[in-house]
Amino acid sequence: MAQYGYFDDTQREFVITRPDTPLPWLNMLGQDEFFGLCTQTAGGYSFWKDARLRRLTRYRYNNNPMDNDGRFLYVKQGKSVWNPGWKPVRAPLDAFECRHGLGYTRIKGRKGGVEVEQLIFVPPDENVELWRVTVRNASKSTQRLSLFSFVEFCFFEALNDMTNYQRTYSIGEVEVEGSAIYHKTEYRERRNHYTLFGCTRPVAGFDTSRDAFVGVHRGLHDPQAVLAGKCTNSHAYGWNPVGALQVDLALKPGKSETFAFVLAYVEQGDLPKFDAPFVMNKARGREILAKYSDIAVVDSAFSALKGRWQDLLSTYQATHVPNPHLQRTVNIWNQVQCMATFNLSRSTSGYETGIGRGMGYRDSNQDILGFVHMLPARARQRILDIASTQLSDGTCFHQYQPLTKKGNADVGGGFNDDPLWLILSTCAYIRETGDTGILGEPCGYADKPGSKDTLLHHIETSIAFTLRNRGPHGLPLIGHADWNDCLNLNCFSKEPNESFQVTGDIAGSKAESVMIAGLFLYAARELSSLYRFLGAPGDAARLDGHYADMLRTVEEKAWDGAWYTRAFDAESRPVGSRRCEEGKIFIESQGWCVMGGAGAGNGRAKKALMSVEKHLYTPQLGCALQWPPYSTYHLELGEVTSYPPGYKENAGVFTHNNTWIHIGWTLVGDGKRALEYYLSICPSAKKDHDVYRSEPYVYSQMTASQFSPTPGEGKNSWLTGTAAWSFVVGSQYILGIRPEFDGLRIDPCIPGTWKGFTVQRRFRGVMFTVTVTNPRRKSKGMKTLLVDGRRVEGNVVPLPTDGRTAVRVEAVLGA
Ligand code: BGC
Ligand code: NOJ
Repeated sequence: MAQYGYFDDTQREFVITRPDTPLPWLNMLGQDEFFGLCTQTAGGYSFWKDARLRRLTRYRYNNNPMDNDGRFLYVKQGKSVWNPGWKPVRAPLDAFECRHGLGYTRIKGRKGGVEVEQLIFVPPDENVELWRVTVRNASKSTQRLSLFSFVEFCFFEALNDMTNYQRTYSIGEVEVEGSAIYHKTEYRERRNHYTLFGCTRPVAGFDTSRDAFVGVHRGLHDPQAVLAGKCTNSHAYGWNPVGALQVDLALKPGKSETFAFVLAYVEQGDLPKFDAPFVMNKARGREILAKYSDIAVVDSAFSALKGRWQDLLSTYQATHVPNPHLQRTVNIWNQVQCMATFNLSRSTSGYETGIGRGMGYRDSNQDILGFVHMLPARARQRILDIASTQLSDGTCFHQYQPLTKKGNADVGGGFNDDPLWLILSTCAYIRETGDTGILGEPCGYADKPGSKDTLLHHIETSIAFTLRNRGPHGLPLIGHADWNDCLNLNCFSKEPNESFQVTGDIAGSKAESVMIAGLFLYAARELSSLYRFLGAPGDAARLDGHYADMLRTVEEKAWDGAWYTRAFDAESRPVGSRRCEEGKIFIESQGWCVMGGAGAGNGRAKKALMSVEKHLYTPQLGCALQWPPYSTYHLELGEVTSYPPGYKENAGVFTHNNTWIHIGWTLVGDGKRALEYYLSICPSAKKDHDVYRSEPYVYSQMTASQFSPTPGEGKNSWLTGTAAWSFVVGSQYILGIRPEFDGLRIDPCIPGTWKGFTVQRRFRGVMFTVTVTNPRRKSKGMKTLLVDGRRVEGNVVPLPTDGRTAVRVEAVLGA
């Protein structure tokens, strides 16, 4: 690990010490509406709200070299040309450091006695990205140099931008004024917004034409204007507008200069669009640039960002945790990743282009579980937005665009787990806030625009949907797929150009999912306890009845002898059963049945988990999705059998579903295994980064498993449900501080060797300081619970009724 970088937990940063990491190591900028992807070499792009519909700068996915385009600074110093972030020129640097922090990235490069530091961040509540740049002369002689900035503008609609050159090569329009470049393509027609890229100090020149700055037969590694040491003041008419600004500096020994570049998304609102024909009204842009021209304002924006994160993270902070990886992950990086998945769902990362998927119905509901404690008000709005993409028969649009909030008709619905996730997110929100008012909020169905049906109505519709759509065993029908997008039991695709997810007739199908049955158990129990909290015992009893029915079905029809069957295919043949030749055991049904309460009284829960251990688990890797992997394509099973063995849903370690097993271990009280399994997928605990390759500070969606030729290789980092669920595992199940409708439950499940730990948890406006001690070296169970010195029975700390805002909790384990 020291080979590429290290954690600086005091600064809450990951420090990358050489630029040539095994893969680009990405950070996410932005927390509200303006976002950016930024790698350790300043690669990446920026967008407002929606990476497809409002992309501001360009990026080239799947290029070679990887990670092409970004927020580049070039230094021309005599004959030497270099980037402080190393790329794109890749001139060897005398020193390099990149610090990925919370919502910012600070890159420092030194060469030839000059040091350039570029701090990139998006201040809270602003639609701008700032690059605070300091150029320092670290040598003993005066240094004269030119610094060039570079971004490539995107024509806002990213798919069109990447595909429709017959049009895009003729539409580009810019204006230049002083140190600012205004990218205003399509502004004359239907757009009322533009991108501003400016410098807070006077510039010596600019380029807005890519052909002029880079050169048609050159690349970003040898742009002709930089090599010549001079911008050409080019004006882009069509083709590809860019933002290149030249700053000339003469620095005496030891001296430095600090200024900023500003990338802003500007909406014109009601302002007059034009000052004169073809001359845009630039008042707002000028205001923004003027504001940040005082570097003190840039600095206070950065302090505001730091303050924002300090505040966000202070909702849950653990100390004295005997395992440093768990402590760091729970306190810092897991929460940071949860912010990213909440904001971006599965839309944009190093692996998601921002044009394919918008917000996922099941994904975004799950993302809320790891985010709701930070900004419950935003979670509330999100829940209502998601619910509005459900249809009145209970089905849901599987994905929707964040900008329009409209369901994506190409993908459609028919993923039969989708409706149930809404219950989990809603209950998590109410547990966190106590705000039951959300249930009465009107959020119409997607097929009944303007209707006033409430969120509670949606939730009941979801329950009714599952109950109504059951197959021959009484188990829920799967539809196109359940959580496992690739388990396509109704697809039967023979045509390579078809989508596994959309193809196939689900009407009248018999294929059933045990995973959905487990999810139903969990959701029904959540809803029943919510009804009880609401004082509606009749409704609670109704849900308990459905729960009991489904539980009976699961135990009678889905127990396979040593684990829970995964599904029944369209011919009612079992999937994930000892009777299968391959794919005998799947992980999801073990996790969800156990979490739903199956196997609790009859020893099956433990047995199922032990089967996971026996067939799927490898320390250091985690649990594979199933065993044995499929070696051939099965028409009746779909995409799951399309991947080579050991990757993705075909027996890769799909980290997301591992987390349910972690919870399972805590439910059966095995704190040693819970932690060991937790660490098996924890990026911070990865030892060999040449093998793992992906970022060590955030979870990847999958690790190539023991069944693959490249075991241990992490892939698809950042946007994965693992983020939210791992936070739930670490914070609520291992450390065990869990919001309930009526208080804060203290129910840790830890290795028996632990002495204890402390958690600060802000909950409904009260700061609870929970000290857990473990004198008898147990894993689980409460011996005594003292709340501000007074004994409380059970393990739920009630909310103070006397206005106290700080509560001291002493929990002694060992019942
Ligand atoms: C991918 C899956 C993914 C699904 C999402 C599939 O093409 O292989 O991993 O979950 O798309 O829709
Ligand atoms: C990624 C998808 O975003 C998610 O919805 C799905 O559950 C997993 N892949 C598993 O297929």
